[in-house]
Amino acid sequence: MFRHAQLESVKAFVGDPAHAGVPLHGRIQRAIRQLILDGALEVGRPLPASRPLAQSLGVSRDTVEAAYRQLHAEGFIERQVGSGSCVSRRARLFAGANAPRRPQAAAQAPRLSARGQALHGTGGVNTVSAPRPFAPGVPETRNFPLHVWERLQREVIREHGSAVLAHSPAQGMASLRRTIADYINLERGGHATPDRVLVLTSSQQALTLCANLLLDAGDRILVEDPMYHGASRAFDAAGLRRVPIAVDAEGMQVARLQRQGHDARAVFLTPSHQFPTGAMLSLDRRLALVHWANQNDAWIIEDDYDSEFHYAGKPTACVQGLDPHERTVYIGTFTKSLFPGLRIGYMVLPSALVAPMTVARSLMDGHSPTLSQLTLARFMEAGHFGAYVRAMRGIYVARRDALLQLVRAHLSDFVVPQVPAGGMQLPCFFKPGIDEQAVLEGARQAGVALQGLTALHASRTPQPGLLLGFAAYTPVEMEMAIKPLATVLRRVTGQV
Ligand SMILES: Cc1ncc(COP(=O)(O)O)c(C=O)c1O
Repeated sequence: MFRHAQLESVKAFVGDPAHAGVPLHGRIQRAIRQLILDGALEVGRPLPASRPLAQSLGVSRDTVEAAYRQLHAEGFIERQVGSGSCVSRRARLFAGANAPRRPQAAAQAPRLSARGQALHGTGGVNTVSAPRPFAPGVPETRNFPLHVWERLQREVIREHGSAVLAHSPAQGMASLRRTIADYINLERGGHATPDRVLVLTSSQQALTLCANLLLDAGDRILVEDPMYHGASRAFDAAGLRRVPIAVDAEGMQVARLQRQGHDARAVFLTPSHQFPTGAMLSLDRRLALVHWANQNDAWIIEDDYDSEFHYAGKPTACVQGLDPHERTVYIGTFTKSLFPGLRIGYMVLPSALVAPMTVARSLMDGHSPTLSQLTLARFMEAGHFGAYVRAMRGIYVARRDALLQLVRAHLSDFVVPQVPAGGMQLPCFFKPGIDEQAVLEGARQAGVALQGLTALHASRTPQPGLLLGFAAYTPVEMEMAIKPLATVLRRVTGQV
């Protein structure tokens, strides 16, 4: 039988408007199940006969019967003709399952594998859903031609019907691989064929695949110093040993590879627009890099994340196009050129890597969404991609110049900006004696988003400063953020 409190709790559950969508017998069944899970009704406890319970709850006897039948089918109660229903012996296994956990147990770190600890220890990569000045690396999305995208998506659905609901091949839809290969060959001077393109969700996925398929834990990978944090975290998670190679105005100092590169299995770099300094790898260095990789049987991992946005003529051809030895893995993404929520990136692979990378990718997440791939292929084939990128390039260069003016007007006592020839962010180096951490903390409190430069360096003597994103913000939005930032800098340097 139920105690008074138990009957009241069943009544309350049944009468709760939050459960109005559940049929009456379902509410009674759930309420009794909850009492069993919480341990309030112990094993062997008889349940009230259906008639008196129906009377107490003001429902029909059939309703209570239906609830009991369901509890019986789920194994919570036993029913015997003549002696009624009681909480089943099996319910011992369930009882306490919903009891509140001890706070101590909840707070304790979970027991992870060493691999899991390495993954968790990286801190992951942040995704910015509502970008605020000056979060770097975020494109403007407010004037994306959504109506065009919507029309093309409707066309795709009309033409392909329910085929858009089916799986895509793990390597990606053929039409998208073809348009990507054409684009790389035409715009980036690459050597791509559709059968060597692997469509992914992001460059981040490409970096994780490279780190795990091309190197073993403990292997050395040569990286730029400073470098992109998404890449360093993917490499750390895979247990790789990063060997930092200094970057200067011509990009990674490739000559150092001869000295520091022995035994390294791969080199990672952002040649067309170094992240975060903005330097472009000179042609001499590109050729020396290809030569080194070929001599040392090493892979070149080329992250070409924002080459669409060069403001002083075309960027130089990608390294992949200069490499006749098939040592280069080329990584591209639509995160910057279109929009981050699209989640489509890709690799152009040496032929020998296509099958292993595709198989590995199929284990991670199967494939990229079929409908988005088909829509994107059509967007590119119809010339919308080229037109959109051209329009955004004009907007971004104007925003870069607007930010530069704001920095000169408001921050010139504190920073020296380094004007990039492309991309979406402006590196600004601190004048001597400014505490980067204090500025980052002050800005955070003032609601200004910032990326510090120190965290991107491996060297012990990094050049502190800020990486100010400009692409996603209008000049007015940037002006509204630069003023509180100037106040923070004045406070940190003792000027107020
Ligand atoms: C150098 C670099 N590579 C890759 C990405 C991210 O691209 P995805 O969203 O495709 O991982 C970024 C974004 O900030 C980046 O700066």
